[in-house]
Amino acid sequence: MRYALISDIHGNLPALDAVLRDIQTRPGIDAILHLGDLVGYAPWPDGVCDRIRELGIQGVAGNYDSTTATGYEHCGCRYEDPRQEVLSHESYRWTLDHTSSTTKAWLASLPFRIDLRPMGGHASGPRLILIHGNAVLNTVYWTEDRNDAFARKMIGTLGAREGDAIAFGHTHIPWSRVVDGVRLVNTGSVGRPKDGDPRAGWARVEFGADADPKWEPIRVEYPVDEAAAAIRSSSLPDEFAFYLETGGKLPPEGQKAGSR
Ligand SMILES: [Fe+2]
Repeated sequence: MRYALISDIHGNLPALDAVLRDIQTRPGIDAILHLGDLVGYAPWPDGVCDRIRELGIQGVAGNYDSTTATGYEHCGCRYEDPRQEVLSHESYRWTLDHTSSTTKAWLASLPFRIDLRPMGGHASGPRLILIHGNAVLNTVYWTEDRNDAFARKMIGTLGAREGDAIAFGHTHIPWSRVVDGVRLVNTGSVGRPKDGDPRAGWARVEFGADADPKWEPIRVEYPVDEAAAAIRSSSLPDEFAFYLETGGKLPPEGQKAGSR
């Protein structure tokens, strides 16, 4: 079984559509699954959720999905300084105000995790386990520099075994490694990459005869200018347009973010 895993779309419909077109051009993808954070930061929260639902793409709830659905006090996002915190609150308020009640109700229905059996439920394994952030909370970042002890804790909490794969997003930076025979895959972000590469990211994961599930990170060009222009013409902070154009940077404080 070959899976296309898409995560952290964050309201960026041009990026999502480019990734879906790219997936279509690649033969042998059996299923597309999402790993949450469908909304926030860009101006198409309903459009992204409608597309995912139209196509019947199953997936899990990200922190942004469940906080938007429940009207929580903040988005559960991480910020490194007071400026990021202010922008984060602006994005969340905008998203709450511009996401329909129908979309919110659907976001509330997304599960925290999904377990798949690529070889069928009649076999004991392997498993593909999908979460958004980590095994217990969607607000905790599982970055590449987390040590193996952290990974073992997550593997144990999820009940994963050798030959399984655990896929997640949330950090917006793709990475993968194998710990105790379990493949860990961070899919990166479709609509808001943070690694300096503005192209949309997704991950291909394949289960075959080999014991180790294969992982391939993929990047796709999309009309970043279209997304950036839509942000600048909305009441979202212009900084988010700059962020998409640079693959995760904010303009220097005091510099106008209206154009690059
Ligand atoms: Fe995210």
